Amino acid sequence: MIPMSDATTGPRLVERVRALAEGGGRVLIGVTGCPGAGKSTLAGWLAGALTGGGLPAVWVPMDGFHLADVELERLGRLGRKGAVDTFDGHGYLALLHRLRTETAATVYAPSFDREIEQPIAGAIPVPPAARVVVSEGNYLLFGDEPWSRVRAAMTEVWYVDLDDRVRLDRLVRRHVRFGKTAERAARWVAEVDEPNAAAIRATRSRADLRVDFDTLALPA
Ligand SMILES: Nc1ncnc2c1ncn2[C@@H]1O[C@H](COP(=O)(O)OP(=O)(O)OP(=O)(O)O)[C@@H](O)[C@H]1O
Ligand SMILES: [Mg+2]
Repeated sequence: MIPMSDATTGPRLVERVRALAEGGGRVLIGVTGCPGAGKSTLAGWLAGALTGGGLPAVWVPMDGFHLADVELERLGRLGRKGAVDTFDGHGYLALLHRLRTETAATVYAPSFDREIEQPIAGAIPVPPAARVVVSEGNYLLFGDEPWSRVRAAMTEVWYVDLDDRVRLDRLVRRHVRFGKTAERAARWVAEVDEPNAAAIRATRSRADLRVDFDTLALPA
């Protein structure tokens, strides 16, 4: 059992995954944390660093399992897109099981396109050679179904922490970059993202590792 650590570095995280991969089989690392905490940034970096170091890894975001707007509209949930019941959690779980067991053929995962804010099926190939899958999303440590089984499907789940002031500022900026007015972005963060953040924060103690994104300083 590897102890919990708040102070870590990118290279140490790479070493941790390499150690987990020594047993053979495909390793599934989950990265979770509040909206805007740095999950995608860390997952993308980690997959690149592992692959660059000779351990082929693919970044597979949970974001690809956002329900399409057409379905959110039907369900009356379009106004709180990003909440736990606006994702196809069972579809995500099924993909994780496939990634674990179907290692003889390429498994395709969906991506999420922020320009159109829609999932795109078949966008991310996970080839047989992939030894590590780095996945990331908001709800990986939730206790209810199907999330408890998502947790069980992962080798480890890490929780990314970031100072709330920095996180909220980055979150608002990103909403503006993808088309919201400053006022609408601030309202969306307060009314949609932050209630989600409170629920996610409550799952923090279930993580195998907590990563302090403020001090992580990922190498280029
Ligand atoms: N070191 C950094 N300096 C400045 N901005 C950063 C840094 N790291 C990440 N960001 C920006 O912060 C924002 C949030 O980061 P990221 O998308 O990785 O978080 P996330 O946890 O995946 O968010 P979400 O839950 O909304 O998907 C992004 O716009 C990203 O470009
Ligand atoms: Mg993200």
